[in-house]
Parts: sequence; structure tokens; C-alpha cells
Amino acid sequence: MRKIVIAGNWKMHKTQAESLEFLHGFLKQLDETPDDREIVLCVPFTALGALSKNLHGSRVRLGAQNVHWEASGAYTGEISGAMLTEFGVRYVVVGHSERRQFFGETDETVNLRLKAAQNHGLIPILCVGESKQQRDAGETESLIVGQLQADLEGVDQSQLVIAYEPIWAIGTGDTCETLEANRITALIRSQLKNPDVPIQYGGSVKPDNIDEIMAQPDIDGALVGGASLTPDSFARIVNYQ
Ligand code: 13P
Repeated sequence: MRKIVIAGNWKMHKTQAESLEFLHGFLKQLDETPDDREIVLCVPFTALGALSKNLHGSRVRLGAQNVHWEASGAYTGEISGAMLTEFGVRYVVVGHSERRQFFGETDETVNLRLKAAQNHGLIPILCVGESKQQRDAGETESLIVGQLQADLEGVDQSQLVIAYEPIWAIGTGDTCETLEANRITALIRSQLKNPDVPIQYGGSVKPDNIDEIMAQPDIDGALVGGASLTPDSFARIVNYQ
């Protein structure tokens, strides 16, 4: 049985105070949320402390947005697995297109980060997806298959989530058509050794399209950016029908 995982990726949003204000509005909307889904908040490092204290006893899992492959060392600006697990972090986003595009992340560093996350007992959420240019050039399938092959080399597929995030759909309001998102998700599954890896869709997921997205047979969850920033909209998403 594939697990359903709905994760918010806050990116570089929210101070500690704003994070707690979000929780205040969000947690009370989870009373009726069905047990079949895991709810994750992937937040800035500076919000982990405050959230971990206030998530005790709730069903929301804490996530981070990056992890370095070394246990410690001279890596200014990076964070280690142990630093995350100390706060009760369970999930970590790895290889987001914004990190690949703006911070020089490569398939090689993504692969190292995935393995480091797993070595610390963290479940990585690996992001893959094509740009508009690659889609228009008919390279979507080959690009994604290539990313999976390189990123997953030597990675344990029993402790893994994958997010299909077409870059052109991120933050644009331009959601990938649901049948197409399902087709690519199925393609991703066909490349995996473990058919039970949950595969999310990400890219302009909103309260008004989540029901249709989750109705697709191959999509096991969502990775949500902008719409995870307000309690009501993220609550509506995790309470999809
Ligand atoms: P949006 O939901 O804002 O399009 O962002 C998607 C994303 O990048 C999640 O990781």
C-alpha cells in the first residue's frame, strides 16, 4: 500500500512568530482529517525549534528543506542530518528545482544529500521535473528518467518520497494538466525498484485543484508551495476529498 504524503514547502517564508501563528490557525482544522494521509511541514531552519515544541501530540510531521552530506565540517551555510534530527525532523526536501537552478545543485550533490538524509533516519523528498524549454523540446521523459537514474544511484527506495514538480508549473498558477501529471508520475514509478514509493505532484497545487489531483490513480500526494502558507488553504488541501 502506498502512503499518501501531503507536504507544505514554505521555502524562505515565515519567522518563528509567523510559524506559530500559522500553527494556531492550522492544527484546529485537522480534527476530521482522515488517517490515511501523512501531513508534513517543510519549514526554514530557524522555525524548526519553535515548531518542534508545538507539534508534540499533533499528527503533523516536521520537515526541512536541505541537508548536507557530511556530518560536520567547514561548509558555511549548510546543515547536517544530526542538526535536523535533534529537532525531531522526519522529512527533508532534496534537489528542489530552485536549489538546482539558483544554488548549483547537481545530480551528484543531490545523490549525496539523499544518502546522507537516509543515514540519519530522515525520509528525503526528492524533486524532479522539467523546464518549459525542455518540455517544448520533447525532452520531458528523457530528462526525468536521467534525473532518477543519477539521483537514486545507491539510494534506499524503502525510505523515500519523490515529487514530480514541472518547473514551469511552480509558482505560476499554471498547474500541469492532471492527466499529464498522472502520466509522468506513472513514468517515474516505472523507473523505480520499489513500486510503493509515494510520488507527489507539485506545482501550483491549490484548494480548488487538489481534489482532482488526488483523484488520479498514480499521484500519492502533493508538495505545496504558496498555498501551504496560509492555514485555511493548506488545511483545505490536506482535507482533500
Ligand atoms: P507552488 O505550490 O507555489 O507552485 O510551489 C511548488 C513547489 O515548488 C513546492 O516545492
